[in-house]
Amino acid sequence: MSELQSLLVRVPPLSPEQTINELGDLFLRQEYRRFLCLPVVDNGQARGVVSRDRMQGIYMSRYGRELLGRKPVTAVMNRQPLVVDLDSDMEEASHYITANVRLPITEDFIIARGGEYLGVGHVVDLLRVMQGRLRHRNEEVARAYSRLKSSQAQLVQSEKMASLGQMVAGVAHEINTPLGYVKNNIGLAREFFEHLRGQLSAYEGLIDALTAGSPDEADIEARLASIASLRAEEGFSPEDVAGLFEDTVYGVDQISEIVVNLRDFSRLDHAPVDSVDLNKSLDGALLIARNVLKHKAEVHKRYAEIPPVSCAPSQINQVFLNLLTNAAQAINERGHILVKTEADARYVHVTVQDTGRGIDQEQLAKIFDPFYTTKPVGQGTGLGLTIAYQIVERHGGKIRVASRVGEGSKFCVSLPHGRGLN
Ligand SMILES: Nc1ncnc2c1ncn2[C@@H]1O[C@H](COP(=O)(O)OP(=O)(O)OP(=O)(O)O)[C@@H](O)[C@H]1O
Ligand SMILES: [Mg+2]
Repeated sequence: MSELQSLLVRVPPLSPEQTINELGDLFLRQEYRRFLCLPVVDNGQARGVVSRDRMQGIYMSRYGRELLGRKPVTAVMNRQPLVVDLDSDMEEASHYITANVRLPITEDFIIARGGEYLGVGHVVDLLRVMQGRLRHRNEEVARAYSRLKSSQAQLVQSEKMASLGQMVAGVAHEINTPLGYVKNNIGLAREFFEHLRGQLSAYEGLIDALTAGSPDEADIEARLASIASLRAEEGFSPEDVAGLFEDTVYGVDQISEIVVNLRDFSRLDHAPVDSVDLNKSLDGALLIARNVLKHKAEVHKRYAEIPPVSCAPSQINQVFLNLLTNAAQAINERGHILVKTEADARYVHVTVQDTGRGIDQEQLAKIFDPFYTTKPVGQGTGLGLTIAYQIVERHGGKIRVASRVGEGSKFCVSLPHGRGLN
């Protein structure tokens, strides 16, 4: 069934010969109360419409009825009524009507099929149908939106799980290497200890034999010989063992460093807050990073006079250190690193810019993700920027990146300095 069928009101039309007075009477009838206009149809073709509004105009003007009452309706009709075809779709019809209807609305529209008059449609009815559709569509959009949101949440969740999996694998790997040699060293230390224990008990036996009431020469001889052979056995030198312990302690230190990093990541300790000159913090970070930087880059400092920032200095140092390390690690042979500070009314901005390899769009979306790293295993944990981001955010600041592959990257940390904040 055609969509417009529901709007079609089959009203008997006027013929061109009918008079204005006749039409006036029709408009007064109960069954015509809803009609804003009546169509004039000749030979099945709609010629025009005469509106109630037009009729009121005539009847209200002085002598209007006397002058025009007996004239045919064609004398006062609108010859260009709105006509829609019954077979056109609702959207199309509504578009046409709303674009062409004259305001205020004083006429209905004509519904025809293939040019032949069928009846009229009320504009209000059309608007009502369209409004219903709109509501329906809104509901659909709302449903689609909520579906999208939940699937996006799932996606984020599964991405998180993926990062977590990656992290667990990474951390396991990081811990496994030092753990491996710590375990090995402990095995060696135990062997050495067994060896020592054998010697010790031989010595104890000797002492017992020597301090006995009547020493037995032959027994003492035998014991001395066995001690000599024990000592001659292939064993470890004390230096070897000292090295073993040193290695072991180093391995344990490495493991605890990883653990400390992980802890810092999961709960940034509430470090004491101080009023800090970020130029000085940067100098401190540059000093610590000197070893990494000196082989890679020429460092250019461009410091401005900046107001002090209230922050946790150890945390902010960590941020700068990581930016500088990343910059150095991004440079293949040799390059430049620019360290710049400046201030505006609310923020101090610290920029670390390098001439390194740059970061492409796809990577750029991930660099702040936990455990995202492009560095070889053992070199990066991928937590540096994640921690930096958290620290800066906790200080009410922002961290921004701009980068171009092959040209370099620019990281800008902005921290509020409190002055001008009101
Ligand atoms: N200045 C930079 N130039 C190019 N790539 C960078 C730069 N800074 C960060 N990246 C990219 O972002 C990744 C994540 O950096 P992030 O500091 O979080 O971890 P990481 O440096 O890999 O490891 P970690 O800091 O734990 O040693 C890096 O692996 C690197 O791919
Ligand atoms: Mg890093």
